[in-house]
Amino acid sequence: MAAGGVTADGRARVLADGNEIPLLGFGVWQVPDGRECTDAVRSALAAGYRHIDTAQAYGNEESVGRALRDSGLPREDVFITTKFHPGRKDPEAEAQRSLERLGVEYVDLYIVHWPQGGATWAWDGMQRAHERRYARSIGVSNFSVSELDEVRAAADTAPAVNQVQFSPFAYRRGLLDACEERGVVIEAYSPLGTGRHLGDRAVGAIAARVGRTPAQVLIRWCVQRDLVVLPKSTHRERIEENAQVFDFTLAEDDVAALDALDRTGGADRALERTWW
Ligand SMILES: NC(=O)c1ccc[n+]([C@@H]2O[C@H](COP(=O)([O-])OP(=O)(O)OC[C@H]3O[C@@H](n4cnc5c(N)ncnc54)[C@H](OP(=O)(O)O)[C@@H]3O)[C@@H](O)[C@H]2O)c1
Repeated sequence: MAAGGVTADGRARVLADGNEIPLLGFGVWQVPDGRECTDAVRSALAAGYRHIDTAQAYGNEESVGRALRDSGLPREDVFITTKFHPGRKDPEAEAQRSLERLGVEYVDLYIVHWPQGGATWAWDGMQRAHERRYARSIGVSNFSVSELDEVRAAADTAPAVNQVQFSPFAYRRGLLDACEERGVVIEAYSPLGTGRHLGDRAVGAIAARVGRTPAQVLIRWCVQRDLVVLPKSTHRERIEENAQVFDFTLAEDDVAALDALDRTGGADRALERTWW
């Protein structure tokens, strides 16, 4: 299968390095370490998610690892992402620490969380983590097209993904097109706008028409574009609801109505405002 394509079951994407990534991932930003996080990840794995998205900055890698072990699932059945905190110095050493906290021998994906201090300085260390097999794939997050190109120009191994804020309200067409051209898979974070988009009237109208929930409509919009999508919830029923997105299709008109909600002007930027 060509790099970048979707697998036959329509549930995973092949990265440029040949590794497969499940389209549906479970995000754990702002999920407190400990019971709340292990319960949420356990519920997600029980509901069929096979992709968990954590980060050094989230402070909950240990709980993710515990839930993974509790699930009894074989390690190779679950795709685990963590992110290098760019306030620290050495991506290779920090990867090793993440592996210890997670209690795993490798992560499937290790990404630079945001381009603090410039786009390129961390990439050598990311490549070393890759060469040492701490991470099967490496990538970036919150990188605009120009930042991605800086890394690519300096890289031996190019970033396989760019994880960015992406939803109908942040439909970054310029960034998506540029990433597709470069063989970089977009991962959509905050697909529900951290909850803000769930009450939107246009989304609600489409959800009522197709007999689904607003969350399912927003997640499906990403899946239908073959994007990796990372919803978060700490409630079991919502975690299950958010996984039910492979058994319906949004009609072209509905997709177009959702596309029109974009507030970024089809940006090739990753963010309207940086936090670093
Ligand atoms: N790379 C980055 O810089 C970055 C930045 C932001 C996010 N991310 C990743 O993307 C993931 C998701 O983004 P996000 O955390 O901003 O949030 P999100 O998934 O866009 O939205 C989560 C919010 O929606 C609520 N919610 C979820 N499903 C719902 C449902 N079916 N019905 C009603 N409410 C529902 C959740 O509430 P409850 O939890 O109370 O159910 C929570 O308040 C993160 O967890 C993280 O893994 C990455």
